[in-house]
Amino acid sequence: MLMKTETAQPKGSQYPESTTPLEKSGLVQKSLVLGCGAYLPERIVTNDELATRIDTSDAWIRKRTGIRQRHIAADGELTSDLAVAACRPALLKAGIEPDEIDLIVLATSTPDNTFPATATRVQAQLGIKQAVAFDVQAVCSGFVYALSVADNMIRLGQVRTALVVGAEVFSRILDWEDRGTCVLFGDGAGAIVLRAGMSEAGASGRGVLSTHLFSDGSHYDSLYVDGGPGSTGKSGHLRMAGQEVYRHAVHNMTESIEIAIEANGLNLSDIDLLVPHQANIRIIESIGRKLGVDNNKVVVTVASQANTSAATIPLALTHAQNENRIQPGDLVALSALGGGFAWGSSLIRW
Ligand code: ACO
Repeated sequence: MLMKTETAQPKGSQYPESTTPLEKSGLVQKSLVLGCGAYLPERIVTNDELATRIDTSDAWIRKRTGIRQRHIAADGELTSDLAVAACRPALLKAGIEPDEIDLIVLATSTPDNTFPATATRVQAQLGIKQAVAFDVQAVCSGFVYALSVADNMIRLGQVRTALVVGAEVFSRILDWEDRGTCVLFGDGAGAIVLRAGMSEAGASGRGVLSTHLFSDGSHYDSLYVDGGPGSTGKSGHLRMAGQEVYRHAVHNMTESIEIAIEANGLNLSDIDLLVPHQANIRIIESIGRKLGVDNNKVVVTVASQANTSAATIPLALTHAQNENRIQPGDLVALSALGGGFAWGSSLIRW
């Protein structure tokens, strides 16, 4: 399945000519980014520590993945706790109060419970009374999916201000005896605040320019949890065909950015910052090389955070924001792939 949503109006677009007075003035409603925030659990587990428990080594993990360490949630620390801890600095950075939020979309594959949505607990803990709150499940591409949902609801005028969150406690679904998977993941959360605002039409105007979403369920068995709080009725652990995932991640994430760039009438050289899902440094470097984006324009956090699934992109965005690597007007390209396979990209004029 392919789903496209674009605010840009490239040549041949299906969108009608502007008709309203505002549109005639060259302004359209877009989702503007007000700020981001992130949270990582206190406890750090290094590769060396893992090597005391399973048959692995720091050298092997670094060489194959670039990962040095990961953060692991404390006993009793839940996905909602991580999410709330990421939302608070995001709201501060955005300069808004929690009760201005009218939408929370939380991307996670490790919800607190089967239901209700973890987003509703985040809503309660932030003291937000009037809002729509729900979860989105698209594994590592969950944040891009959540962003797409929030962007569409904002542009349709259904909501004004949204918290888009990626939060995961993957440490609870790993098989800690499977060295092929347990070394790859960590826990964490990130959030961004979007608000409806009038912006110049086309790719030069600030805001979310487009999201492109894809999925292909024929790869279900390449990356999955063999159980969980679902219809199989048994608990489970993450299972993965690593090389299969690797190949699709490089190809599909690269292609989804190329599609987004073309749909917006831009060039790859226009990208100011590339923020790919952080699974493995070799995947990230391959995508950068294929797109011809310089290393200094690629955000990399995988070494210190490992793969936090739906949280990697907002964590990386927050890292870049806090290091002053994103300036107003910059073109930021996001891309992710995860189980399903589900993947997608987004372009944001910051
Ligand atoms: N430490 C030491 N040895 C290991 C480890 C480990 N942690 N894990 C596997 N090995 C061994 C294997 O047992 C195997 O040994 P053998 O040759 O004696 O049988 C050997 O290393 C090679 O194993 P492969 O699985 O073939 O190793 P590969 O080179 O494919 O690397 C890896 C594995 C790093 C998982 C790679 O396939 C990869 O990066 N895939 C992408 C997967 C990914 O990042 N998934 C994250 C979720 S999906 C996403 O976010 C996009």
